[in-house]
Amino acid sequence: MDRILVTGGAGFIGSNFVHHVVANTDAHVTVLDKLTYAATQESLDGLPADRVELVVGDIAEPEVVEPLVAGVDAVVHYAAESHNDNSLEDPGPFIRTNIVGSFTLLEAARKHDKRFHHVSTDEVYGDLELDDPKRFTEDTPYNPSSPYSASKAGSDHLVRAWVRSFGVRATISNCSNNYGPWQHIEKFIPRQITEVIDGRRPRVYGDGLNVRDWIHTEDHSSAVLAILERGQIGETYLIGADGEKNNLEVVQAILRHFGRSEDDIEFVRDRAGHDRRYAIESGKLRHQLDWQPQYQDFDAGLQATIDWYVANEAWWRPHKDAVEASYAAKGQ
Ligand code: NAD
Ligand code: DAU
Repeated sequence: MDRILVTGGAGFIGSNFVHHVVANTDAHVTVLDKLTYAATQESLDGLPADRVELVVGDIAEPEVVEPLVAGVDAVVHYAAESHNDNSLEDPGPFIRTNIVGSFTLLEAARKHDKRFHHVSTDEVYGDLELDDPKRFTEDTPYNPSSPYSASKAGSDHLVRAWVRSFGVRATISNCSNNYGPWQHIEKFIPRQITEVIDGRRPRVYGDGLNVRDWIHTEDHSSAVLAILERGQIGETYLIGADGEKNNLEVVQAILRHFGRSEDDIEFVRDRAGHDRRYAIESGKLRHQLDWQPQYQDFDAGLQATIDWYVANEAWWRPHKDAVEASYAAKGQ
Protein backbone atom coordinates (compact mmCIF):
# COMPACT_ATOMS: atom_id res chain seq x y z
CA MET A 1 0.00 0.00 0.00
CA ASP A 2 1.68 3.17 -1.20
CA ARG A 3 -1.01 5.70 -0.37
CA ILE A 4 -3.24 5.69 2.71
CA LEU A 5 -6.09 8.04 3.64
CA VAL A 6 -6.38 8.44 7.43
CA THR A 7 -9.62 10.07 8.54
CA GLY A 8 -9.48 11.83 11.91
CA GLY A 9 -5.68 11.86 11.64
CA ALA A 10 -5.40 15.09 13.65
CA GLY A 11 -7.13 13.53 16.66
CA PHE A 12 -5.61 11.71 19.64
CA ILE A 13 -5.36 8.17 18.23
CA GLY A 14 -5.38 9.00 14.51
CA SER A 15 -2.34 11.27 14.83
CA ASN A 16 -0.44 8.55 16.67
CA PHE A 17 -1.26 6.17 13.80
CA VAL A 18 0.05 8.68 11.24
CA HIS A 19 3.39 8.85 13.11
CA HIS A 20 3.41 5.04 13.32
CA VAL A 21 2.84 4.62 9.58
CA VAL A 22 5.55 7.14 8.70
CA ALA A 23 8.03 5.42 11.05
CA ASN A 24 7.22 1.85 9.98
CA THR A 25 6.29 1.94 6.27
CA ASP A 26 7.13 3.87 3.10
CA ALA A 27 3.50 4.88 2.52
CA HIS A 28 2.30 8.40 1.82
CA VAL A 29 -0.47 9.51 4.19
CA THR A 30 -3.30 11.91 3.42
CA VAL A 31 -5.08 13.02 6.59
CA LEU A 32 -8.73 14.04 6.21
CA ASP A 33 -9.86 15.88 9.32
CA LYS A 34 -12.55 18.47 10.01
CA LEU A 35 -10.41 19.94 12.81
CA THR A 36 -13.20 19.91 15.38
CA TYR A 37 -12.58 20.99 18.99
CA ALA A 38 -10.94 17.55 19.51
CA ALA A 39 -8.26 17.93 16.83
CA THR A 40 -4.69 19.07 17.41
CA GLN A 41 -2.73 20.05 14.34
CA GLU A 42 0.47 20.27 16.44
CA SER A 43 0.25 16.51 16.92
CA LEU A 44 1.34 16.21 13.28
CA ASP A 45 4.24 18.66 13.61
CA GLY A 46 7.64 17.40 12.53
CA LEU A 47 6.34 14.84 10.03
CA PRO A 48 8.01 14.99 6.60
CA ALA A 49 5.97 17.17 4.20
CA ASP A 50 6.62 14.78 1.31
CA ARG A 51 5.06 11.90 3.31
CA VAL A 52 2.06 13.53 5.04
CA GLU A 53 -0.57 15.93 3.73
CA LEU A 54 -3.48 17.40 5.74
CA VAL A 55 -6.80 18.03 4.02
CA VAL A 56 -9.32 19.91 6.16
CA GLY A 57 -12.79 18.58 5.42
CA ASP A 58 -15.84 16.65 6.59
CA ILE A 59 -16.17 12.88 6.11
CA ALA A 60 -19.94 13.30 5.71
CA GLU A 61 -19.54 15.32 2.51
CA PRO A 62 -19.29 13.06 -0.59
CA GLU A 63 -17.71 15.78 -2.75
CA VAL A 64 -14.83 16.03 -0.24
CA VAL A 65 -14.48 12.30 0.36
CA GLU A 66 -14.79 10.79 -3.08
CA PRO A 67 -11.78 12.32 -4.87
CA LEU A 68 -9.58 11.62 -1.86
CA VAL A 69 -10.64 7.96 -1.66
CA ALA A 70 -10.16 7.62 -5.43
CA GLY A 71 -6.54 8.70 -5.06
CA VAL A 72 -5.37 6.20 -2.42
CA ASP A 73 -4.91 2.44 -2.01
CA ALA A 74 -6.52 2.18 1.43
CA VAL A 75 -8.65 4.12 3.89
CA VAL A 76 -8.12 3.86 7.66
CA HIS A 77 -11.16 5.42 9.29
CA TYR A 78 -10.63 7.02 12.73
CA ALA A 79 -12.73 10.21 12.41
CA ALA A 80 -15.54 10.31 14.95
CA GLU A 81 -17.22 12.23 17.68
CA SER A 82 -15.65 10.23 20.49
CA HIS A 83 -16.78 11.40 23.95
CA ASN A 84 -19.66 9.65 25.73
CA ASP A 85 -20.49 12.62 27.97
CA ASN A 86 -20.89 14.89 24.92
CA SER A 87 -23.17 12.33 23.28
CA LEU A 88 -25.47 12.51 26.31
CA GLU A 89 -25.70 16.30 25.96
CA ASP A 90 -26.18 16.43 22.16
CA PRO A 91 -26.32 13.19 20.16
CA GLY A 92 -26.82 14.89 16.75
CA PRO A 93 -23.16 15.30 15.73
CA PHE A 94 -22.52 11.64 16.69
CA ILE A 95 -25.18 10.41 14.29
CA ARG A 96 -23.95 12.66 11.49
CA THR A 97 -20.22 11.98 11.76
CA ASN A 98 -20.15 8.41 13.06
CA ILE A 99 -23.00 7.02 10.96
CA VAL A 100 -23.50 9.31 7.93
CA GLY A 101 -19.74 9.98 7.72
CA SER A 102 -18.91 6.25 7.79
CA PHE A 103 -21.62 5.60 5.18
CA THR A 104 -20.13 8.32 2.94
CA LEU A 105 -16.66 6.77 3.17
CA LEU A 106 -17.97 3.26 2.54
CA GLU A 107 -19.80 4.40 -0.58
CA ALA A 108 -16.57 5.93 -1.91
CA ALA A 109 -14.61 2.75 -1.06
CA ARG A 110 -17.27 0.69 -2.87
CA LYS A 111 -17.25 2.90 -5.96
CA HIS A 112 -13.45 2.90 -6.26
CA ASP A 113 -12.85 -0.63 -4.90
CA LYS A 114 -10.50 0.43 -2.08
CA ARG A 115 -9.27 -1.45 0.99
CA PHE A 116 -11.06 -0.09 4.06
CA HIS A 117 -10.23 -0.43 7.75
CA HIS A 118 -12.81 0.75 10.27
CA VAL A 119 -11.59 1.75 13.73
CA SER A 120 -14.22 1.03 16.37
CA THR A 121 -14.64 0.54 20.08
CA ASP A 122 -15.29 -2.21 22.62
CA GLU A 123 -18.27 -0.14 23.83
CA VAL A 124 -20.41 -1.62 21.04
CA TYR A 125 -20.67 -4.75 23.24
CA GLY A 126 -22.23 -2.93 26.20
CA ASP A 127 -20.76 -3.74 29.61
CA LEU A 128 -19.83 -6.63 31.90
CA GLU A 129 -20.48 -7.17 35.61
CA LEU A 130 -17.43 -6.66 37.83
CA ASP A 131 -17.38 -10.36 38.81
CA ASP A 132 -18.10 -11.76 35.33
CA PRO A 133 -15.25 -14.17 34.45
CA LYS A 134 -15.87 -13.54 30.72
CA ARG A 135 -14.31 -10.84 28.58
CA PHE A 136 -15.51 -9.44 25.22
CA THR A 137 -14.65 -11.54 22.16
CA GLU A 138 -15.39 -11.12 18.45
CA ASP A 139 -18.55 -13.21 19.06
CA THR A 140 -20.02 -11.07 21.86
CA PRO A 141 -23.47 -9.74 20.83
CA TYR A 142 -23.81 -6.01 20.20
CA ASN A 143 -25.51 -4.16 23.08
CA PRO A 144 -24.47 -0.48 23.11
CA SER A 145 -25.53 1.80 25.99
CA SER A 146 -24.89 5.44 25.00
CA PRO A 147 -25.62 7.52 21.88
CA TYR A 148 -21.85 7.41 21.19
CA SER A 149 -21.55 3.63 21.41
CA ALA A 150 -24.82 3.13 19.51
CA SER A 151 -23.50 5.35 16.71
CA LYS A 152 -20.27 3.33 16.58
CA ALA A 153 -22.27 0.08 16.58
CA GLY A 154 -24.32 1.48 13.68
CA SER A 155 -21.14 2.22 11.73
CA ASP A 156 -19.81 -1.32 12.41
CA HIS A 157 -23.02 -2.78 11.03
CA LEU A 158 -22.73 -0.63 7.90
CA VAL A 159 -19.19 -1.94 7.32
CA ARG A 160 -20.32 -5.56 7.74
CA ALA A 161 -23.21 -5.00 5.31
CA TRP A 162 -20.95 -3.32 2.72
CA VAL A 163 -18.59 -6.32 2.90
CA ARG A 164 -21.34 -8.88 2.49
CA SER A 165 -23.63 -7.08 0.03
CA PHE A 166 -21.11 -5.17 -2.07
CA GLY A 167 -17.83 -7.03 -1.56
CA VAL A 168 -16.03 -4.03 -0.05
CA ARG A 169 -12.59 -5.19 1.14
CA ALA A 170 -13.01 -4.10 4.75
CA THR A 171 -11.85 -5.10 8.23
CA ILE A 172 -13.00 -3.81 11.64
CA SER A 173 -11.15 -3.41 14.92
CA ASN A 174 -12.77 -2.81 18.31
CA CYS A 175 -10.30 -1.45 20.83
CA SER A 176 -10.47 -0.73 24.56
CA ASN A 177 -9.69 2.58 26.34
CA ASN A 178 -6.59 4.33 25.02
CA TYR A 179 -4.21 6.54 26.99
CA GLY A 180 -1.09 8.48 26.03
CA PRO A 181 0.02 11.90 24.75
CA TRP A 182 -2.33 14.31 22.94
CA GLN A 183 -5.56 12.96 24.49
CA HIS A 184 -8.12 15.74 24.95
CA ILE A 185 -8.46 16.90 28.57
CA GLU A 186 -12.20 16.16 28.55
CA LYS A 187 -11.25 12.44 28.84
CA PHE A 188 -10.73 10.70 32.19
CA ILE A 189 -6.94 10.33 32.54
CA PRO A 190 -5.91 13.75 31.16
CA ARG A 191 -8.73 15.45 33.07
CA GLN A 192 -7.53 13.99 36.37
CA ILE A 193 -3.83 14.67 35.67
CA THR A 194 -4.58 18.31 34.88
CA GLU A 195 -6.91 18.65 37.89
CA VAL A 196 -4.12 17.46 40.19
CA ILE A 197 -1.58 19.77 38.48
CA ASP A 198 -4.01 22.61 39.31
CA GLY A 199 -4.08 21.55 42.96
CA ARG A 200 -7.66 20.28 42.76
CA ARG A 201 -9.09 16.87 43.56
CA PRO A 202 -9.68 14.25 40.83
CA ARG A 203 -13.39 14.05 39.91
CA VAL A 204 -14.65 10.48 39.98
CA TYR A 205 -18.12 9.51 38.75
CA GLY A 206 -20.35 7.41 41.02
CA ASP A 207 -18.50 4.96 43.27
CA GLY A 208 -15.36 4.87 41.09
CA LEU A 209 -15.47 1.08 40.76
CA ASN A 210 -16.15 1.12 37.00
CA VAL A 211 -13.44 -0.79 35.17
CA ARG A 212 -11.75 0.18 31.91
CA ASP A 213 -9.23 -1.98 30.02
CA TRP A 214 -6.37 0.48 29.33
CA ILE A 215 -4.09 0.24 26.30
CA HIS A 216 -1.37 2.66 25.22
CA THR A 217 -2.30 4.40 21.98
CA GLU A 218 1.00 3.29 20.39
CA ASP A 219 -0.09 -0.35 20.85
CA HIS A 220 -3.44 0.48 19.24
CA SER A 221 -1.57 1.88 16.23
CA SER A 222 0.66 -1.17 15.80
CA ALA A 223 -2.42 -3.40 15.96
CA VAL A 224 -4.30 -1.40 13.32
CA LEU A 225 -1.28 -1.49 10.99
CA ALA A 226 -1.00 -5.27 11.47
CA ILE A 227 -4.69 -5.67 10.55
CA LEU A 228 -4.36 -3.35 7.55
CA GLU A 229 -1.37 -5.32 6.27
CA ARG A 230 -2.25 -8.90 7.27
CA GLY A 231 -5.91 -8.96 8.35
CA GLN A 232 -8.47 -11.15 6.60
CA ILE A 233 -11.09 -9.24 4.62
CA GLY A 234 -14.47 -9.30 6.36
CA GLU A 235 -12.98 -10.09 9.78
CA THR A 236 -13.27 -8.23 13.07
CA TYR A 237 -10.32 -8.09 15.51
CA LEU A 238 -10.53 -7.04 19.15
CA ILE A 239 -7.55 -4.97 20.37
CA GLY A 240 -6.60 -4.99 24.05
CA ALA A 241 -3.56 -5.21 26.31
CA ASP A 242 -4.91 -6.87 29.49
CA GLY A 243 -5.03 -3.50 31.25
CA GLU A 244 -8.13 -3.74 33.48
CA LYS A 245 -8.16 -1.12 36.26
CA ASN A 246 -10.99 0.51 38.14
CA ASN A 247 -11.22 4.30 38.07
CA LEU A 248 -10.17 4.63 41.73
CA GLU A 249 -6.96 2.69 41.06
CA VAL A 250 -6.12 5.05 38.20
CA VAL A 251 -6.68 8.28 40.15
CA GLN A 252 -4.82 6.87 43.17
CA ALA A 253 -1.79 6.20 40.91
CA ILE A 254 -1.99 9.80 39.63
CA LEU A 255 -2.27 11.18 43.19
CA ARG A 256 0.73 9.08 44.31
CA HIS A 257 2.80 10.46 41.44
CA PHE A 258 2.22 14.01 42.69
CA GLY A 259 2.82 13.09 46.36
CA ARG A 260 -0.83 13.66 47.28
CA SER A 261 -3.00 11.54 49.59
CA GLU A 262 -4.75 8.64 47.83
CA ASP A 263 -7.99 9.70 49.57
CA ASP A 264 -7.94 13.17 48.05
CA ILE A 265 -10.80 12.37 45.65
CA GLU A 266 -14.03 14.24 44.81
CA PHE A 267 -16.91 11.87 44.05
CA VAL A 268 -19.27 13.58 41.61
CA ARG A 269 -22.57 12.86 39.86
CA ASP A 270 -22.51 9.56 37.95
CA ARG A 271 -22.75 9.40 34.14
CA ALA A 272 -26.24 8.42 32.89
CA GLY A 273 -26.22 4.79 31.73
CA HIS A 274 -22.58 4.46 32.89
CA ASP A 275 -21.09 1.18 31.62
CA ARG A 276 -19.72 -0.85 34.54
CA ARG A 277 -16.83 -2.76 33.03
CA TYR A 278 -15.08 -3.33 29.71
CA ALA A 279 -12.61 -6.19 29.19
CA ILE A 280 -11.05 -7.45 25.96
CA GLU A 281 -9.95 -10.96 24.98
CA SER A 282 -7.48 -10.21 22.16
CA GLY A 283 -6.30 -13.78 21.43
CA LYS A 284 -7.47 -13.75 17.80
CA LEU A 285 -5.32 -10.73 16.95
CA ARG A 286 -2.33 -12.10 18.88
CA HIS A 287 -2.45 -15.61 17.43
CA GLN A 288 -3.60 -14.99 13.87
CA LEU A 289 -1.64 -11.79 13.17
CA ASP A 290 1.24 -12.32 15.59
CA TRP A 291 0.64 -8.99 17.39
CA GLN A 292 1.85 -8.17 20.91
CA PRO A 293 1.43 -4.96 22.93
CA GLN A 294 4.73 -3.27 23.86
CA TYR A 295 3.36 -1.26 26.83
CA GLN A 296 2.60 -4.14 29.20
CA ASP A 297 3.27 -2.09 32.36
CA PHE A 298 0.33 0.31 32.85
CA ASP A 299 2.01 2.15 35.74
CA ALA A 300 5.09 2.94 33.63
CA GLY A 301 2.90 4.07 30.69
CA LEU A 302 0.82 6.24 33.03
CA GLN A 303 3.96 7.83 34.55
CA ALA A 304 5.21 8.73 31.06
CA THR A 305 1.78 10.16 30.20
CA ILE A 306 1.74 12.27 33.38
CA ASP A 307 5.22 13.57 32.55
CA TRP A 308 4.00 14.46 29.04
CA TYR A 309 1.08 16.52 30.38
CA VAL A 310 3.38 18.30 32.84
CA ALA A 311 5.80 19.15 30.01
CA ASN A 312 3.06 20.18 27.55
CA GLU A 313 0.94 22.51 29.65
CA ALA A 314 1.04 25.16 26.91
CA TRP A 315 -1.04 22.83 24.72
CA TRP A 316 -3.86 21.99 27.16
CA ARG A 317 -3.96 25.08 29.37
CA PRO A 318 -6.01 27.28 26.97
CA HIS A 319 -8.84 24.68 27.03
CA LYS A 320 -8.88 23.80 30.71
CA ASP A 321 -11.28 26.46 32.06
CA ALA A 322 -13.92 25.82 29.38
CA VAL A 323 -13.78 22.04 29.89
CA GLU A 324 -14.17 22.39 33.66
CA ALA A 325 -16.97 24.97 33.33
CA SER A 326 -18.88 22.54 31.12
CA TYR A 327 -18.42 19.68 33.64
CA ALA A 328 -19.32 21.96 36.58
CA ALA A 329 -22.60 22.88 34.90
CA LYS A 330 -23.50 19.16 34.99
CA GLY A 331 -22.40 18.64 38.61
CA GLN A 332 -19.36 16.66 37.47
P1 NAD B 1 -10.69 12.27 19.05
O1 NAD B 1 -11.99 12.88 19.44
O2 NAD B 1 -9.47 12.62 19.82
O3 NAD B 1 -10.38 12.61 17.52
C1 NAD B 1 -11.36 12.54 16.52
C2 NAD B 1 -10.83 13.25 15.28
O4 NAD B 1 -11.85 13.13 14.26
C3 NAD B 1 -10.58 14.75 15.50
O5 NAD B 1 -9.34 15.12 14.93
C4 NAD B 1 -11.74 15.42 14.77
O6 NAD B 1 -11.42 16.71 14.25
C5 NAD B 1 -12.02 14.42 13.66
N1 NAD B 1 -13.40 14.52 13.17
C6 NAD B 1 -14.54 14.54 13.92
N2 NAD B 1 -15.61 14.69 13.11
C7 NAD B 1 -15.13 14.72 11.83
C8 NAD B 1 -15.76 14.82 10.57
N3 NAD B 1 -17.09 14.92 10.44
N4 NAD B 1 -14.98 14.80 9.46
C9 NAD B 1 -13.62 14.71 9.57
N5 NAD B 1 -12.98 14.62 10.75
C10 NAD B 1 -13.73 14.61 11.87
O7 NAD B 1 -10.95 10.72 19.03
P2 NAD B 1 -9.97 9.51 19.43
O8 NAD B 1 -10.09 9.26 20.87
O9 NAD B 1 -8.65 9.75 18.81
O10 NAD B 1 -10.72 8.28 18.67
C11 NAD B 1 -10.42 8.01 17.30
C12 NAD B 1 -11.23 6.81 16.86
O11 NAD B 1 -10.90 5.69 17.66
C13 NAD B 1 -12.75 6.98 16.98
O12 NAD B 1 -13.35 6.36 15.87
C14 NAD B 1 -13.10 6.25 18.27
O13 NAD B 1 -14.42 5.77 18.23
C15 NAD B 1 -12.08 5.13 18.22
N6 NAD B 1 -11.71 4.58 19.53
C16 NAD B 1 -11.30 5.40 20.53
C17 NAD B 1 -10.88 4.86 21.74
C18 NAD B 1 -10.39 5.75 22.88
O14 NAD B 1 -10.09 5.24 23.95
N7 NAD B 1 -10.28 7.07 22.71
C19 NAD B 1 -10.91 3.47 21.92
C20 NAD B 1 -11.37 2.65 20.87
C21 NAD B 1 -11.75 3.23 19.68
O1 DAU C 1 -13.67 1.79 25.55
C1 DAU C 1 -13.29 2.61 24.48
C2 DAU C 1 -13.85 4.00 24.68
O2 DAU C 1 -13.09 4.60 25.72
C3 DAU C 1 -13.78 4.85 23.40
O3 DAU C 1 -14.63 4.28 22.44
C4 DAU C 1 -14.21 6.30 23.68
O4 DAU C 1 -14.03 7.08 22.52
C5 DAU C 1 -13.35 6.84 24.79
O5 DAU C 1 -13.76 8.16 25.13
C6 DAU C 1 -13.44 5.94 26.02
O6 DAU C 1 -14.78 5.97 26.58
P1 DAU C 1 -15.03 6.05 28.17
O7 DAU C 1 -16.38 6.63 28.38
O8 DAU C 1 -14.68 4.76 28.81
O9 DAU C 1 -13.86 7.10 28.55
P2 DAU C 1 -13.82 8.38 29.52
O10 DAU C 1 -12.41 8.88 29.48
O11 DAU C 1 -14.89 9.36 29.21
O12 DAU C 1 -14.13 7.76 30.96
C7 DAU C 1 -13.37 6.66 31.47
C8 DAU C 1 -13.99 6.26 32.81
O13 DAU C 1 -13.81 7.31 33.75
C9 DAU C 1 -15.50 6.04 32.74
O14 DAU C 1 -15.83 5.00 33.68
C10 DAU C 1 -16.09 7.37 33.22
C11 DAU C 1 -15.06 7.81 34.25
N1 DAU C 1 -14.88 9.27 34.43
C12 DAU C 1 -14.71 10.04 33.33
C13 DAU C 1 -14.45 11.39 33.48
C14 DAU C 1 -14.26 12.29 32.27
C15 DAU C 1 -14.81 9.78 35.72
O15 DAU C 1 -14.96 9.07 36.74
N2 DAU C 1 -14.55 11.11 35.86
C16 DAU C 1 -14.38 11.94 34.81
O16 DAU C 1 -14.13 13.15 35.00
